Amino acid sequence: MNPIVVGLFPWSTIARFHLNHFTTVATVRFLFEDKSIPEKTITGDLEGRSILEITEEFDIHLNHNCGGVCACSTCHVYIEKGEEFLEEISEKEEDFIDRAINPRLESRLGCQCVILDNNADIVVTIPDQRRIIGHEH
Ligand code: FES
Repeated sequence: MNPIVVGLFPWSTIARFHLNHFTTVATVRFLFEDKSIPEKTITGDLEGRSILEITEEFDIHLNHNCGGVCACSTCHVYIEKGEEFLEEISEKEEDFIDRAINPRLESRLGCQCVILDNNADIVVTIPDQRRIIGHEH
């Protein structure tokens, strides 16, 4: 920041500016219907990545038979918190959610849940994968 500009603002404002621009990280907390799996929290630069991509990278089992192109319902998840940080649901996604096991208002397809920014604070429940005929790639 330019020293002239720095002189115009109190120190706390400058510190907040730097913290906001250099330390924002998204948080995604994963809960599991299968209670034998402990919850897991992922933080980091997650903007532009889908919930499915994050599960793959961090070794969380989520089936995805069509490979993430919104053509099945095996990546079905529940977004318990933070829906506003995700790309909006499409009609096609809604159609496939209707075919998922136990759809609810919080249902989304993990491959279509792209995180919009690094201020995201999201809680996801992964359905019991033992009830889904699917596979990981
Ligand atoms: Fe098929 Fe998400 S993996 S719809």
